[in-house]
Amino acid sequence: MTTITTAPGPAHAAILGVGAYRPARLVPNSEIVDAIDSTDEWIQQRSGIKTRRIADDSETVISMSVDASRVALERAGIAADQIDCVIVATVSHLLQMPSAATAIAHELGTKAAAFDVSAACAGFCHGVALGSDMVRAGSAGYALVIGVEKLSDITDPTDRGTAFIFADGAGAVVIGPSDTPGIGPVVWGSDGEHYDHIRTREPWVDALGSDEPGIPFITMKGSEVFRWASYSMAKIAQEALDRAGVTVDQLDCFIPHQANNRITDAMARSLGLPPTVRIARDIVDAGNTSAASVPLAFERMIADGDARPGDLALLVAFGAGLSYAAQVVTVP
Ligand code: UT7
Repeated sequence: MTTITTAPGPAHAAILGVGAYRPARLVPNSEIVDAIDSTDEWIQQRSGIKTRRIADDSETVISMSVDASRVALERAGIAADQIDCVIVATVSHLLQMPSAATAIAHELGTKAAAFDVSAACAGFCHGVALGSDMVRAGSAGYALVIGVEKLSDITDPTDRGTAFIFADGAGAVVIGPSDTPGIGPVVWGSDGEHYDHIRTREPWVDALGSDEPGIPFITMKGSEVFRWASYSMAKIAQEALDRAGVTVDQLDCFIPHQANNRITDAMARSLGLPPTVRIARDIVDAGNTSAASVPLAFERMIADGDARPGDLALLVAFGAGLSYAAQVVTVP
């Protein structure tokens, strides 16, 4: 009997470069409070957010991804045509088809396999798991993983529960072969019992076919998600540490989804992170950018010198679905 020939990849994969694109326009709390009967003080106290970046018409899901990817490629020292797979995590590419990834791959100058991942705020960490496994399985020499959102397109500026949180931006990483393990085992899953906790209000066809056609904006049961994340996500993060064989004392950086500084604090407390672990706080001036939040926060930590080459960083992300994913990675 003839057997199929396989071509396994290298033993290990790692993140080789991290890039970001932040929209030019900074929107402070003072600009949005009137529409939601809120205050700068309340928003800062409850979420940590002071300002966020909101994209203009020229800053699209595609353009922000391309800009972030070019930076990641340059930092990784990899040319676009060396990429074999482009994975885009997003919930705000508003074409039902084709994928954002195919357009991004084309703009970058690669004919790589390209597809989008729908796992909301956890999408980037899902993409890192996929990219790492692809490289190690031999199905991609190099993978480009992007987290990107233009949430301002689908956020109701008058909704008190979401208008102050969500924002725009893109982050990207290049994953490739490595002599040593650079991406630990992923711990991921979903809690579909809470499927309705964060969602767009209705299907497009209903929103546009109704008597008063409009965009199906995001709705969120904020306090329910807050309780779920504060209680459950530290356990997932701990499992990712355990599976990577890393203790909190060996960890250098904690880069959680930038959902709310109070959730970050609760996770850090439950994990018992020592003061030596540097914690990402990008939310303060970037807001919650869903799939883009972890790579944006990662890039910021590197730029600020808080994440240095060879450091161990714990990533954990969670959001609509409810879905989640976590892994330990080495900082490039
Ligand atoms: O990225 C995906 C994952 N998402 C998350 O992880 C988000 C998780 N949730 C959160 O971050 C928080 O739930 C929010 C920041 C969204 C809200 O904070 P909260 O502490 O859960 O507020 P709450 O909804 O429990 O409301 C507390 C109070 C209420 O007033 P009373 O009933 O205590 O008098 C609300 O009416 O705050 C009031 N409130 C507001 N006040 C000023 C609710 N929204 C606002 C607002 N401005 N925008």
